[in-house]
Amino acid sequence: MRIKKKNILTLDKYIYEALYNSKSGYYMKGNPFGKNGDYITAPNISILFSEMIAIWIILFWENLKCPKKFNLIELGAGNGEMMKQIIKTFDRFLVFKNCCKINILEKSIYLKKIQKKKLKNRNIKWLKNLNELPNIPSIFIGNEFFDALPIKQLIKKNNEWYERNVKFSQLSQPKFIDILINIKKIERKIGFKISHKQKFIEYSPLLIEYLKIISKKINSNSGGILIIDYGYWNNNMKNTLKSIYNHKFNKVLDNFGQSDITYNLSFNLVKKILKKLNLKICGMTNQKSFLTNLGILKRAEIISKNLPFSKKADIYFRIKRLIDKNSMGELFKVMLATNKNVNFQTGFIN
Ligand SMILES: C[S@@+](CC[C@H](N)C(=O)[O-])C[C@H]1O[C@@H](n2cnc3c(N)ncnc32)[C@H](O)[C@@H]1O
Repeated sequence: MRIKKKNILTLDKYIYEALYNSKSGYYMKGNPFGKNGDYITAPNISILFSEMIAIWIILFWENLKCPKKFNLIELGAGNGEMMKQIIKTFDRFLVFKNCCKINILEKSIYLKKIQKKKLKNRNIKWLKNLNELPNIPSIFIGNEFFDALPIKQLIKKNNEWYERNVKFSQLSQPKFIDILINIKKIERKIGFKISHKQKFIEYSPLLIEYLKIISKKINSNSGGILIIDYGYWNNNMKNTLKSIYNHKFNKVLDNFGQSDITYNLSFNLVKKILKKLNLKICGMTNQKSFLTNLGILKRAEIISKNLPFSKKADIYFRIKRLIDKNSMGELFKVMLATNKNVNFQTGFIN
């Protein structure tokens, strides 16, 4: 880590070093997914999750009047499982498949290697940055992407705003310190009054940077962005920062580079940012209704028809994890933003 003794880092810089430092970062040296990792994501729970996303993409493309060339971009593809299943589904829709240019944006060199191995023989471009994308209609998909980006925390105390930092010293463990800031300067940079009716702010500068580029692409060439993430609708932002080490919660400043640091997205804030960037919010719902509206239960019924009981039970057990309200069903939210003249609500209405 490039942190000198007695140094101070803003929280987002600290998280960046903990997760993405090219040598010691959590995502740069190991596979966090599955039984031996720290967590499991929806595509790794059931292939039906990725099948539903694939069908949704095809329907979205049809809604755009089947453009002959079309970009699909997965943001942060993890172990490549979702893209593997999505392409398998596309194999059954050849007209669509011939129009679709598949791209992945992935920061971790380690995970990129895993993705390339899993997706070998598939026609995929790994992007260095989003500006490389050709100017054609595009659909961006981020499943648990934005919650993996570093965040800042701002705290209001006695009518003044402070930014959370991490202080290092030779004598003791790193600790949080809050430093007085000029909120107006930050708001000028962000482009809107993020502190309006808030006592606590959690936001990712990188999320804003990505959404600026993505919205520009969508506004000039048509398309949309589908965001699926751990998050909440409430207007009041709260402290949701957490660290997970070996499947258990961990203090955020402990086990540097060994633990995942994540947060819950304020979808209200994301909505404000997207609207400011001139996109239209076409749909907002939770993962349970999105997947059931797309027919995940009907699909499970069809594929499990002639299977023995144990296999059938396994399929339904996995789906329950995805849609149960006490599991991922209500904790995960889904949002679609498009350019102004798109009208597409599949997955968001019954
Ligand atoms: C929580 S994982 C989710 C992985 C996958 N979407 C899934 O559902 O299994 C976050 C992913 O985003 C990647 N990532 C994080 N920051 C990134 C960035 N700035 N650019 C591209 N990828 C990034 C991580 O390396 C990882 O692959």
